[in-house]
Amino acid sequence: MNDVFAGKHLVLGLSGGVACYKSAMLCRLLVQAGATVQVVMTEAAEQFMTAVTMQALSGRAVYTSQWDVREPNNMPHINLSRDADAILIAPCSADFIARLVQGRSDELLSLMCLARPMESVPLLLAPAMNREMWAHPATQRNLAQVQADGAQVLGVGNGSQACGETGDGRMLEPEEIMEELAAHFTAKSLQGQHLLVTAGPTFEAIDPVRGITNLSSGKMGFAIARAAREAGAQVTLVAGPVHLPTPRGVTRVDVQSARQMQTAVQSLVAGASIFIATAAVADWRPAEFSDQKIKKDGSGDVPAMDFVENPDILAGVAQSDQARSGKLYCVGFAAESHDLLKHASAKRLRKSVPLLVGNIGPATFGKDDNALLLIDDQGSKELPHASKDVLARQLVDEIAQRLSAKRP
Ligand code: C5P
Repeated sequence: MNDVFAGKHLVLGLSGGVACYKSAMLCRLLVQAGATVQVVMTEAAEQFMTAVTMQALSGRAVYTSQWDVREPNNMPHINLSRDADAILIAPCSADFIARLVQGRSDELLSLMCLARPMESVPLLLAPAMNREMWAHPATQRNLAQVQADGAQVLGVGNGSQACGETGDGRMLEPEEIMEELAAHFTAKSLQGQHLLVTAGPTFEAIDPVRGITNLSSGKMGFAIARAAREAGAQVTLVAGPVHLPTPRGVTRVDVQSARQMQTAVQSLVAGASIFIATAAVADWRPAEFSDQKIKKDGSGDVPAMDFVENPDILAGVAQSDQARSGKLYCVGFAAESHDLLKHASAKRLRKSVPLLVGNIGPATFGKDDNALLLIDDQGSKELPHASKDVLARQLVDEIAQRLSAKRP
């Protein structure tokens, strides 16, 4: 089971900043994902968020002082970090970065960072500050130094800030920090690979206001893009019309129709070493597109409509020299309603792909979980029911294993 946060223990340090409100959600997401979270707060952080809230969300007593008598040896700075898989400071204020650079130790959080075993307890920082503070040479100098000293800086977001200004320096959103943490904890099994993945439905326009589409949510393809990036791949995601945020570090190309998806794939595939087609591409499109809205004229007559077949994007890529020479590993998906093994095996041969992933379409469209059946020339393997994120990580592992088995 590849559930990256299960059993992980994190120390979540909060320094002073209005972004503390995001850390409450981050704590909740970590706990929901199976991690245990020990919160440590500076005095300044307590101005923005109460320890009571963080205790309720983490299910653990929060530490705010190095003089905490609850520790029998009175050494929370030692005891709290020794069994941590990582210390994450979020928000990490400009002042706290400066304190880390100086090796200050006059309050619990910076003392604990200084006292951590550097080889076994990584320190990750999610900075949060006003854009001028972020851009200031002192901050940039301190960031360079703190990284040289072994900390990992997760970056900042860009946008409107609590102070009313707009620019760099916002703390990353909790979901983005979760993606960065997942990437941190994931083995880089796809390092050096470039993945091209299609996701979502296509939309085949009839007229300016109508079209044909399907219920694919794109969640599986987006989860695969995210998991592959966590595993070190460079990822390009060609997405049909879906309402999903772009996974961090992934290049996204939005398209509407099957033909636009095909054009995008054809222009990007030369740089890819893996192609995964998860998109639910419409089989047919209207033969004619009406520039103007087709009007109901009140006669009761319905408009006649002819359809033409869409190109099969996956089959086209799988037949290319790039795929046939082994430079591109192709993976197809099959959404079936019954007889999964039989239909998916036939589809694997028909599309000439080395790996075909079957799932039951009506049971998974739009849902957050799924179950997969992997079919290759060795036989079939089931990835039992789990969240799409977990399944995507398992599928990435399976693909990485097949690629490394292919290497001489
Ligand atoms: O033929 P079917 O649609 O069931 O095949 C599913 C697989 O083929 C999926 O991987 C899907 O993304 C891909 N496909 C495609 N272009 C099409 C139809 C399907 O790439 N026109």
